[in-house]
Amino acid sequence: MSDHLMEETAVKLVAPSKGILAADESTGTIKKRLDSINVESTEDSRRDYREMLFTADGISDYISGVILYDETLRQKASDGRRLAEVLSEQGVIPGIKVDMGAKPLAFSEGELVTEGLDGLRERLAEYYELGARFAKWRAVISISESSPSPYCIETNAHALARYAALCQEANIVPIVEPEVLMDGPHSIDECYAVTETALKAVFDELYKQRVVLEQMLLKPNMVISGTECPEQAGVEEVAAKTLYCFEQTVPAAVPGIVFLSGGQTEAQATEHLNAMNQMSPHPWEISYSFGRALQASALSAWGGKADNVAAGQAAFINRSKLTSAARDGKYSADMETGS
Ligand code: 13P
Repeated sequence: MSDHLMEETAVKLVAPSKGILAADESTGTIKKRLDSINVESTEDSRRDYREMLFTADGISDYISGVILYDETLRQKASDGRRLAEVLSEQGVIPGIKVDMGAKPLAFSEGELVTEGLDGLRERLAEYYELGARFAKWRAVISISESSPSPYCIETNAHALARYAALCQEANIVPIVEPEVLMDGPHSIDECYAVTETALKAVFDELYKQRVVLEQMLLKPNMVISGTECPEQAGVEEVAAKTLYCFEQTVPAAVPGIVFLSGGQTEAQATEHLNAMNQMSPHPWEISYSFGRALQASALSAWGGKADNVAAGQAAFINRSKLTSAARDGKYSADMETGS
C-alpha cells in the first residue's frame, strides 16, 4: 500500500508540464542570496521570501513539489497556516532536504563527502509527520587535475544509497542527487566521463542497498562545459551528451530525472531542458528541480520589500511557466521577451 503511494508520489512529481522548485537553501546559502539584494537574513525575512513564492497565484500549474529546509517546514505563513500546508492545500507536495551538508573528506584534500546519516531514521519519521513526502540529499563532486578520486565517488555513492533506503523505509520518496560541479576549466567530455562514472557508482550502491528504483527520482547535473572552459558546448551538444550519459547509466525503472541548474543562467538551464525534451522519447520523464534558475528573477524583483510581493510573484510565475514549457519541449527563446 505505502509502496504504491511512493510510486504515485514519484510519478506526480514529474507529471507533464510540472517540476520541482528547490527552495531548500541552507541558512548559509540563503544568507548569500539575501545579501545579494541587500536584505538581512533573519527568520522573518527568510519566511517572507518563501511565503512570497509559495503563495504565488498559479504555482500549482507548474510546480509539483517544493523542497524545503528544516526551518521552513516548521514555519508559519502570515495567516497562521504552516508553509507546508500552504503548499499541500494547493496540491503542491512538500519535500525536505535531509542532508547536513558536504564536509571535507578525510585524507583527500579538496574533496567533500555529505554528512547526515546519524539519526536520519528518526528525523525522517518526524518529517513525515510534518507533511514531507519526498526528500533530497546532495553529494558534491568536483572536477580538477587531481579529482574526483574513486574514494570520493564511492563514499558519496554509499551515503546516497544509505539515505535512499532509509527514506523508502519511512515512506518518503528519495531524490538522489550526485552533483558534478560545473566550476573549472574542464571540457564537456571531461564532465561526461566524471558524470558517467559517478552515476554508475550510485546505481551500483542503490542496487546493493535494495533501493526500489520505481520509488525514487534522480537529480543530476547536465553534461556541460566547465565554466572556465574556453570552448563552450552549444545547446544541442549539451542535450545530446547528457541524454547519452543517462542512457548508459540510469535504469528505465526510474520514473524521472529532475535536473539541478547548478549555476547556469535561467535561460541556459531552460534551453537545455527544452532541447532534451525535444529529443524524446526517453524511458524516464525529463524535468526540473531548479533552485537558482527558478528564483533568480523573483528574488531581484522582490528585493525584500512588501510593496514588491506582487512583482516577485509575477517574476516567479513567469519563470515557472517558461521552465514548464521547456519540460514539455515547447519553449523558444523568443518567449523570454514576449511576456
Ligand atoms: P540549483 O538549481 O540552484 O543548482 O539548486 C538545485 C539544488 O537543489 C541543488 O542541491
